Formats: sequence, C-alpha cells, structure tokens
Amino acid sequence: MTLMAKRILIGVTGGIAAYKTPELVRRLRDQGAEVRVVLTAGGAQFVAPLALQAVAGHPVYTHRFEPAGSGMEHIELARWADAVVIAPASADFLAKLAHGLADDLLSTLCLASATPLWVAPAMNQQMWRATAVQANVATLRARGVGFVGPASGAQACGEVGVGRMSEPGEIVSAVADSFGVPVLAGRRVLITAGPTREAIDPVRYISNRSSGKMGYALAAAAVRGGAQVSLVSGPAALDAPANVKFTRVNTARQMYDAVLAQVGECDIFVAAAAVADYRPAQIATKKIKKNAETLSLSLVRNPDILRVVAARAAPPFCVGFAAETDAVEAHALRKLQDKKLDMIIANAVGEGLHTGFESDQNAVVVVWAEGRREFATMPKTTLAQALMTMIAEHYAAKNPA
Ligand code: CTP
Repeated sequence: MTLMAKRILIGVTGGIAAYKTPELVRRLRDQGAEVRVVLTAGGAQFVAPLALQAVAGHPVYTHRFEPAGSGMEHIELARWADAVVIAPASADFLAKLAHGLADDLLSTLCLASATPLWVAPAMNQQMWRATAVQANVATLRARGVGFVGPASGAQACGEVGVGRMSEPGEIVSAVADSFGVPVLAGRRVLITAGPTREAIDPVRYISNRSSGKMGYALAAAAVRGGAQVSLVSGPAALDAPANVKFTRVNTARQMYDAVLAQVGECDIFVAAAAVADYRPAQIATKKIKKNAETLSLSLVRNPDILRVVAARAAPPFCVGFAAETDAVEAHALRKLQDKKLDMIIANAVGEGLHTGFESDQNAVVVVWAEGRREFATMPKTTLAQALMTMIAEHYAAKNPA
C-alpha cells in the first residue's frame, strides 16, 4: 500500500464531478491513507456529506467555525495533512486559491497550510479555456500547486472538450508518486538548520534572518524517503518534524560540537544552517551600558562546520547551501570546490525577494562537479522533496551497492 499512514485532506468544491469524490476517498483509503474531507457550500449541492462521511470513516467538515469545535479547525486540519487534494476544483475555487481569498473553511485552510497542494479541476470546456481561468492556473502552477487533469471528453453539459475531472485512479497515482519511493531506506542523514546566535552580553546577540524552514522541510522529506534523520537546529520558531532525532543548539560552536558528535554515523550530511561566521571575542558578563558615543565589537572566526566535516578522512556525502546576494552561481561553484563538497544548493537572498530567508518559497540552482539543475520558485516543502530525491540519486551513484 503506497499511501500507508499518509494523511490526505480532500476538499470538495461545487461541480457535477463531485459524484466521483466518494470513489476517490475510498481508493485513497484502500492504499492505506487516512482521509478527512472538507466540503464547501457549493460542493454540498452535488454530493451529500453523509456519503463522504461513510467512505472516509470520519465526519465531514463543512464550516469554518463548527459549533462544537475549537474555532481553529482550519489551522488544525492544515497542520494535520501530509497533502491537500481539491477534487473537484471549480473555476471559482481556483480563482480563490490564486488570489488568496479565505471566506470559507477550505480556502482558509489552504492558505494556512504549508503542505503540498493538488487540484483536479472540473468545469465546462469553455470555462477552462477562459483567459481568466488560464491566468489563475498559470499563477498556481508557478507556485508549485500540482495539477491532475483536467481530462478531455464528453461533458455533463453536453459539450465535448477539456474540462472533465480526472478519474479517481489517476488522482491517487499522482498523489502517491509525489511521496516518492523510499529512496533513502537504511540511510542515515544529518541535517543542520536555522540560524545561530552569538552572544554579545547576557541580553544581546548577533544572528541572521534564517527561519530554518528549508532545513526542517529537508528533514521531513528525508524521513518520508525512509531515512533515519538527525536534525541539529539553531533557534527557530518551528516544531521538530516527526520521527527525527532533534538537537537544539544556540551558538555555532554548539552546532559544531553536536554535528561532530554524530557525523561518524551518518551517510549524508546536509548543511542547511546559516551559521554565524564570527562571534564576539568576548561575551560581556553584564549588560553593556550605552556610555560611549561609539562602540566597537571585536569578532573572531567560528569553525566552519561543513568544511571540517568534508575534510574528514572518510567524509559522508556532503551537501552545502550558498545563500548569496550577488553572483549566486559563481560563489556557489567556488564554495563547492573550496570546501570539497559533493553538491551545493544556491539561492539568492536579499531585500525585496519573495524567496529564501523567512519565506515559504524558494528558488534554487543545484551545482555539482559535472552539472547543474535549476528549480523554479516553489513551496519549500515541495522543493525539499525534489532536492532530497536528487541527493539520494547522487549518493547512490557515488556509493553503488
Ligand atoms: N557553514 C558551516 N559552518 C560555518 C559557515 C558555513 O557549516 N561556520 C555551511 C553552511 O551551512 C552552508 C555553507 O557552509 O551550507 C555555506 O555557508 P555560507 O555562509 O554561504 O558560506 P561561507 O563559507 O561562510 O562563505 P561566505 O560567508 O564568505 O559567503
């Protein structure tokens, strides 16, 4: 069963194809998935909540604020899901998604969710071809939303063309494939994430804008790939991913110690942390007072964790990150060679960019000795899946069984 223990949230919007959704739910459960269903007011015109409840084995969610609920259903469901699948997705709902509207439970939870989102559009062929719909589709695709269909054929309205919802079997296959095969089964993966904090005095520190999201998403993707994962994280406002050995540190030197203590037992090391390159030479024992007009801090170099790991006698497969404001690929290539890495993942960071630091999205170029591959802007969760698959393939090529 390819979807064993995967948590799939199905959204049903208004369209005649909603009659196929109970079949979709049944097939997902046949594959081992746990399913919850959110029905919009439009969807409820085409399929009865009880029919969906019977196949899902769980009550259907219909309102943003259930009378007996916590009022936080949209957040709870968004966190619960491993994937969200909207089937059928009406033209109206695609427009809501594209523009970030949040006027019912389903649209609100889509905004609140960082998990991969799939849509199976269903509408009249003329509607599907409409410029407005196609513009929304292009926006959603660019954001990394997965599309299944629509298929072509006879339509409920009597017309023939593209706009039919894909068959449930096809939707199940697309979602199952996205979770990937366990390419990292038996592998031990060590990942660093987040910023570090270098104390100046008891209340102040030097740090950077890293959120840790990319490293945490990579850890979750490695778990999904079947690896044994250890995550060493600087201060980040994120929950530790499930099924991960989690070590929380503050400073670069603590991160260095935590990594060195574990690196001997790892096959793959991914350095996603934004480690502070320097720390104050001295930490004031008392809060520094503003007595002087100017204040100079003397800084000393921190150990370069990735460089030290890659220089070991028998290093793991080493993957670095390069967050750059300029000449992104040139700097990345230099770091790849200089630190003797197997692979480096480069991304542009800086003011005005909607990717990289603090963002849910990222666009990267991956560089290795013999090649390069670009990934357009997409959610960090989706990107992490693709990157982890790529890392696993390169690791396997370097270490044939
Ligand atoms: N890195 C590390 N330990 C450090 C500094 C960096 O492990 N003390 C790792 C990062 O996790 C990242 C890679 O090295 O994977 C590149 O980090 P970056 O700060 O971009 O590069 P630096 O080598 O520090 O070079 P510079 O700051 O000059 O750009």
